[in-house]
Amino acid sequence: MSVFKRTHMCGELTAANIGQEVVLNGWIAKRRDLGSLIFCDVRDKTGITQIVFDDKIPAEMKAVAEKLRSEYVVGVKGTVMERQSKNADLPTGDIEVFVSELKVYSEADTPPIYIKDDDNVDDNLRLKYRYLDLRKQRMQRNLSMRHHVTKVAREYYDSQGFTEIETPMLIKPTPEGARDYLVPSRVNPGSFYALPQSPQMFKQLLMVGGTDRYMQIAKCFRDEDLRADRQPEFTQIDLEMSFVDVDDVIEIQEGFLKKLFKEVMGVEIDLPLPRLSYQEAMERYGSDKPDTRFGFELKKLNDLVANCGFGVFENALAVGGDVRGICITGGAEAFSRKDIDKLQDAAKHYGAKGLVWIRHNGNEISSSVNKFFTQDQLSDILRVFGANVGDLVLIVADKPKVVFDSLGFLRREIARKLGLLDDNVYKLLWVVDFPLFEYDDETCTYSPMHHPFTSPKPEDLEFLRTDPGKVKAQAYDIVLNGVELGGGSIRIHDKDLQRTMFEVLGISDADIENKFGFLIEAFKYGTPPHGGLAFGLDRLVMLLAGEQSIREVIAFPKNQSAQCMVSEAPVPVPQEQLDELAIKVE
Ligand code: AMO
Ligand code: AMP
Repeated sequence: MSVFKRTHMCGELTAANIGQEVVLNGWIAKRRDLGSLIFCDVRDKTGITQIVFDDKIPAEMKAVAEKLRSEYVVGVKGTVMERQSKNADLPTGDIEVFVSELKVYSEADTPPIYIKDDDNVDDNLRLKYRYLDLRKQRMQRNLSMRHHVTKVAREYYDSQGFTEIETPMLIKPTPEGARDYLVPSRVNPGSFYALPQSPQMFKQLLMVGGTDRYMQIAKCFRDEDLRADRQPEFTQIDLEMSFVDVDDVIEIQEGFLKKLFKEVMGVEIDLPLPRLSYQEAMERYGSDKPDTRFGFELKKLNDLVANCGFGVFENALAVGGDVRGICITGGAEAFSRKDIDKLQDAAKHYGAKGLVWIRHNGNEISSSVNKFFTQDQLSDILRVFGANVGDLVLIVADKPKVVFDSLGFLRREIARKLGLLDDNVYKLLWVVDFPLFEYDDETCTYSPMHHPFTSPKPEDLEFLRTDPGKVKAQAYDIVLNGVELGGGSIRIHDKDLQRTMFEVLGISDADIENKFGFLIEAFKYGTPPHGGLAFGLDRLVMLLAGEQSIREVIAFPKNQSAQCMVSEAPVPVPQEQLDELAIKVE
């Protein structure tokens, strides 16, 4: 069967086309049979147009039109007419197409999911029939926005002298901190490749190779637990530059964000973006990816409650902990005791053992600690927050990490409940001056906060061996509305410093040689100072599209159990295939 040559997309016809002969190809979205008249909506990726079979059409065509059902694929030729009963909800609602020729390209069984944007179907069913799910306008809009973002990225970085270069997918494990996906080598039995967690080491080798400015829309693979903003395979806009410092890297990315927001969203963002030190981000927001669309900043109460007599606070302080809180404007009314109990339960997932609440009711101050504190003491605490009548203060006492994590969570959770998370507001900021290392209390070891190639700040070099916890990194994260969009650093380009770094991390000489020997070897032959960053493309598009999960902006994402519901991967493989790879499955 020949295909009708399309003249228009279904979503683009307007009153300006009235009187024209047009050809549309698409899917039947809806059909109403009034006997003498049959109305159908025809859908393609751009939208829908109503078509009409009236009583002037030949009997054979009428017979075919009567059999049309949802999701049949058709081509129609016809004349655009003004619509009598206009549909204001539809961009093409002013017109309809009176059909003169019809082709049915394929019939369709009743689809297992509705092709409707706000269909509340089970996620796994949506993912199993993803190719049907993708017919939804919302999904097509997201995919096309993703295309637009990568297009702007390629144009922008090209204009700044970056070269797009592919790095290998079958590599040696990279130390990005997650588990690797391994790929067995048939020709080297018992040996494995890893899929890249990121192109990190190769992009640094490109700098040694004189590439100067590299970019790649790079697939990355990490075997980690899935969340709304994490997938086992995801995409980075990956960048590396030679002869740069922190400010240079940040300035280039700001130029990209400016162009991106303008071209994709029509939004002007002001540059330079705000920068917060890691320390300040934690102290004010309890998070290294603060959402600054709302207030509720943390305040420290350590001095005020040092000798307050309340055991919970004093004990926390005695072991080097903190007492901090947040003030929820108007929270006294908005949150009942029961609501606060629920918040406390949620905060327990972040390690909090309890939650002190104080309500400013005017003359009287009520709290969960009335029996431990006088009204004067409570009003001193309220004063620290500048609390007004009607406000609610929530306090956590614990190790600093627990206090920050639980208050950071509560801040955002409460803002969500109060409807303060406006998707149309874009708060971008940099978090800088990260600690170089994270200390693990259980194993008593240091691990890199970013990755082991991150350069310490020059002024902290002297503490690298003596007091690693004090050393700050030349690292930066870009944060949008409380989501870590991207991160990077200036790298170590000196082979001796790189070796010291590995030693501080407690990596043995043999391990250094085995895992990173090739990088250290490369650094011997003339290495430019370099640094870079990677944006999480999925997260970026998710936020721009106003979606809550990166799954909504990936054509074929994995489900909660890291399965591809369409193809059913992963699957067991035949014994011969395992034998060929010298693999024994227990
Ligand atoms: P990092 O590990 O911080 O840095 O990753 C950079 C960005 O990638 C995104 N991201 C993810 N997105 C979806 N699913 C995941 N599982 C996932 N993991 C990370 C985040 C994150 O900010 N090589 C370094 C970059 C550099 O130093 O230049 C790196 O990969 O948005
Ligand atoms: P209790 O003495 O157990 O009745 O506790 C009094 C109040 O202190 C309750 O509101 C508890 O939730 C709260 N609380 C207990 N432990 C902590 C903690 N580590 N941080 C903050 N509040 C706590």
